[in-house]
Amino acid sequence: MNIIDQLATLYQKKFGHAPSNIARAPGRVNLLGEHVDYNDGFVLPAAIDRATYIAFSPTETAHSTVVAADFDQQVSFSPATVPSKTQPDGSPIPEWGLYPAGTMWALMGEGLSTPAMNAVFSSNVPRGSGLSSSASVEMAFAIAWQRLGGWNLPPMKRALLGQKAENKYVGVNCGIMDQFSSACGVENRLLLLDCRSLEWITLPLPNDISIIVADTTVRRKLTSGEYNKRRSACEEAVNLLKEDLPDIKSLRDVRPEDFNRLAHKLPEEVEKRARHVVEEIQRSDQSQALLEAGDIQSFGRLMNECHTSLRDYYEVSCPELNVMVNVAQSLDGCYGARLTGAGFGGCTVNLVAIEKVDGFVDALAKGYERETGLHPEIYVTRASNGAELVR
Ligand code: GLA
Repeated sequence: MNIIDQLATLYQKKFGHAPSNIARAPGRVNLLGEHVDYNDGFVLPAAIDRATYIAFSPTETAHSTVVAADFDQQVSFSPATVPSKTQPDGSPIPEWGLYPAGTMWALMGEGLSTPAMNAVFSSNVPRGSGLSSSASVEMAFAIAWQRLGGWNLPPMKRALLGQKAENKYVGVNCGIMDQFSSACGVENRLLLLDCRSLEWITLPLPNDISIIVADTTVRRKLTSGEYNKRRSACEEAVNLLKEDLPDIKSLRDVRPEDFNRLAHKLPEEVEKRARHVVEEIQRSDQSQALLEAGDIQSFGRLMNECHTSLRDYYEVSCPELNVMVNVAQSLDGCYGARLTGAGFGGCTVNLVAIEKVDGFVDALAKGYERETGLHPEIYVTRASNGAELVR
């Protein structure tokens, strides 16, 4: 049985009738532009063919009841209890429940109607792996309430509200990339987003190239603390560079030649963090021309450079990610390999010639296992559409 039928069956068992609708919102993989969305840079993600699915129906009760099939737990909340992060019986909303509740909270803040629903959700986006499972939960619930509330928002607006939920309700200070990718994905296309203007276009990937995701299966704790430290370092760099470059608003405005001239004025760690961002924005700025010309060789080289920079300057890699990338880069048919997402564990993204995929997957799994003793999860993924109703 596929995940949609499984979910519909679970819903039926739990609530005694078939769900009125099913919503789906994908995870994402980012190819280039890492840790630049909160520096007004360019990102190049794709929505993937793994997603969060919600089976749901409207209900007459005052509160929504949401069942997380993957944890076998349920939570209830209503517009009256959401602001205090509590359930109708006064108990706190559990951590996983903050994503649907936070989505309700952000929609309410816009004056949008969020009628009570009964819902069962499940995801095949691996959690904590750098593939944006949380954004996919937020965007799936935004679609469900859009259906029940009878309003209609453009996908980018839904993405911004999801980001607000995550920043202000869940308390994770993320940028816009993940919710954007989940909301705005386009089948078989990469998405190039300017995180300052929020303008975006789609770009092609040649038919004979596969996107392969390799999960180290390593999950790091305290990621959000490290993430926030990186953000602060970027802000500190902007403040210090302003003394010489008064017009800059973010690292997006710093040209590499100016950065090199002024780098000695920054504390060593701040300099390394800012160098990654300035150079990564320059790399991602080249991606449109390279992809439009079908020059995957050069594009892949930028992905490899990105990994080195994340490892040495931004320091968000870990030994297992480095092994996965080193093995991949040595294999036949691999154009580029790097960690994807925030880092500290999770997945790598690889661009591989289609006729080499089987050999690549096999050799990567064996090489990684030999060096780490860990069994990786490796899969070929396809760029998919963004959040939508599937039934
Ligand atoms: C996480 C955040 C994104 C982005 C990436 C790093 O996925 O949610 O906003 O900052 O890390 O590129």
